[in-house]
Amino acid sequence: MLKPVNVGICGLGTVASGTVNILLRNAAIINARAGSELQIIHIGARRDNARCDTAGLRVSRDIFEVVDNAEVDIVVELIGGTTVAKDLVLKAIANGKHVVTANKALIAHHGNEIFAAAREKGVTVAFEAAVAGGIPIIKALREGLAANRIEWLAGIINGTGNFILTEMRDKGRAFDDVLKEAQALGYAEADPTFDVEGIDAAHKLVILASLAFGIPLDIKKVFTEGITRIAPEDVVYAEELGYRIKHLGIARRVEKGIELRVHPTLIPEKRLIANVDGVMNAIVVKGDAVGPTLYYGPGAGAEPTGSSVVADIIDVARTLSASPENRVPYLGFGDDFVTEQPILPIDEIETAYYLRMSVEDKPGVMSKVATILSDSGISIEALIQKEAKDGELFVPLILLTNIVQEKRLEAALREIEALESIVAPVMRIRLESLK
Ligand code: HSE
Repeated sequence: MLKPVNVGICGLGTVASGTVNILLRNAAIINARAGSELQIIHIGARRDNARCDTAGLRVSRDIFEVVDNAEVDIVVELIGGTTVAKDLVLKAIANGKHVVTANKALIAHHGNEIFAAAREKGVTVAFEAAVAGGIPIIKALREGLAANRIEWLAGIINGTGNFILTEMRDKGRAFDDVLKEAQALGYAEADPTFDVEGIDAAHKLVILASLAFGIPLDIKKVFTEGITRIAPEDVVYAEELGYRIKHLGIARRVEKGIELRVHPTLIPEKRLIANVDGVMNAIVVKGDAVGPTLYYGPGAGAEPTGSSVVADIIDVARTLSASPENRVPYLGFGDDFVTEQPILPIDEIETAYYLRMSVEDKPGVMSKVATILSDSGISIEALIQKEAKDGELFVPLILLTNIVQEKRLEAALREIEALESIVAPVMRIRLESLK
């Protein structure tokens, strides 16, 4: 065994409690795997957490005492947010500490600056727990799939959103009602709009895309659309057509550049990922050599996320004896490979679409809609039209299109919405076959 490795933990919330409990409970096996004794020598937290026993451990109320502790080798940042956490991480790096963080927003917004600072100081910043909780997706992309040119990846990377969509589908529950339950169960972010508007998923997607394609982190370039507009009937019609609606983060390399987008998506119900329900996460990664691969597991929670944090602590401990240039590169590529590649604006992406419109129940309406679509070079792949209920003047018309460029689809929709016999706006959900 090498000399002990001293760990300092900042924050004592949900993930920190899981991390501390795993480190204490599994100490023997963790030390055997790390090749050195990992010891928590300092915790910084404003308050205690009844879910973990810190008896006998040094706890300071000022978290910066941890990064200033000369004995600490690895600082574990688990306070969240992008302000104090950023100062804390940069201070730790400046003090020559290695950093392990679960903070997706911090890496997504400030990762480039943080990695540059870490490179300069020859220290490691590890962030497995930042994406998809307990799923080792960072290591899968950086190490397991290192032989591949990644073609695309698509993931359910927000558990709260997946829980809401699952409950709407299985129990016909209303959106707001399910969101309240997700908050009460502690799945949701402090600001739940981060979950339902796709911001949390965008943070995670930009990190995955950087690892997959060797591009700098640029959160501003991710197109983000939430799930708040999905109506219970969309879930039902999708099902009738053989699809499930999932809130996906998608990163795809195409000829003209890279697509980076988070939005509700219809996917064929027979895909494994279509059957990932509740708060679980899953990511499909397609490599040119391996083909499609699927990673599934809990995307949040104390011990699942703590499992990834501890794995990173072990990794860092193992590499402490390596020279800085031989340590694992932050975004999976040597610095000279990380290149700007154009991120395509959403109107240039190409995908298929689910369209739901409310049309007047009279002759000729369907043919007008079909004519606009066909004049725009858009083909109808499937169609449902329901009979009018007694006394109702409008009926729902549901269409699936072929793959088309988004700006062409949008132009056709503006024409359709201008028809007198259509109630605007038309509901539009993107559809991916994920083959
Ligand atoms: N709010 C997040 C989710 C927590 O629901 O997935 C994990 O990042």
